[in-house]
Amino acid sequence: MSLIELSGVCKSYRTGDVVTPVLFGIDLQVGRGDYLALMGPSGSGKSTLMNLLGLLDRADAGHYRLDGQDVTGLSAAQHAGVRNRTIGFVFQSFNLLKRMNVLENVALPLLYAGQARAAARRRAQEVLEQVGLATLGHRMPNQLSGGQQQRVAIARSLVNRPPLLLADEPTGNLDTRTTSEVLEVIGQLNREQGLTIVIVTHEADVARHAKRLVKLKDGVVVYDGAPQDERQEVAA
Ligand SMILES: Nc1ncnc2c1ncn2[C@@H]1O[C@H](COP(=O)(O)OP(=O)(O)OP(=O)(O)O)[C@@H](O)[C@H]1O
Ligand SMILES: [Mg+2]
Repeated sequence: MSLIELSGVCKSYRTGDVVTPVLFGIDLQVGRGDYLALMGPSGSGKSTLMNLLGLLDRADAGHYRLDGQDVTGLSAAQHAGVRNRTIGFVFQSFNLLKRMNVLENVALPLLYAGQARAAARRRAQEVLEQVGLATLGHRMPNQLSGGQQQRVAIARSLVNRPPLLLADEPTGNLDTRTTSEVLEVIGQLNREQGLTIVIVTHEADVARHAKRLVKLKDGVVVYDGAPQDERQEVAA
């Protein structure tokens, strides 16, 4: 059974009387332990699709099964519950809280969920170790490099052990060196923890780290296969 099963998913945005259709019948299955890169031109619908996958928005048509559960018809409150258990999110901006140190930032979701402070801090330290930041828990976010801040954001997103990480251009604000530092951590989480990953990127170099590449164009899937075969496909 796949972790993600989308079938016939359509999405339009409505502003006043204007309807902008964005996604046209997306079928997508993502297995447990998969590592999928999502590419496509600006405006092709990548973030729209990620928002649907992440239960931040809902489709107009089609079906979505997530982790064995049909989530298509659930209420917003039910979506929030599934999202908290199942999905870690990382965005281009790190969204760390400036006034808290790194360890407190990572522990925060557990405190919100009602965990005791000591247990939350222990778990936060464990995830910081997984992203290679074991010794930096006491620093403030602005005392870290961009790549380190993004790794803190990854740690925070995974602190309550979701099986799925959704990352929308997580290296969009990073230079080449810190990009590879973040990709190394993401690859390692996939290999060693079996974390399922969907990552949006504009860079072919980033996509090559993934096991699978899906390309969107004008709201439809135009490629789904190995990242290294994509060039041949286009040439053919
Ligand atoms: N909240 C919204 N209301 C109306 N239209 C929207 C909204 N969000 C996105 N769109 C439109 O939907 C289309 C797809 O947007 P989306 O953000 O999914 O693209 P993207 O592939 O992520 O692009 P980029 O690479 O620039 O991030 C665009 O035409 C965009 O203008
Ligand atoms: Mg986008």
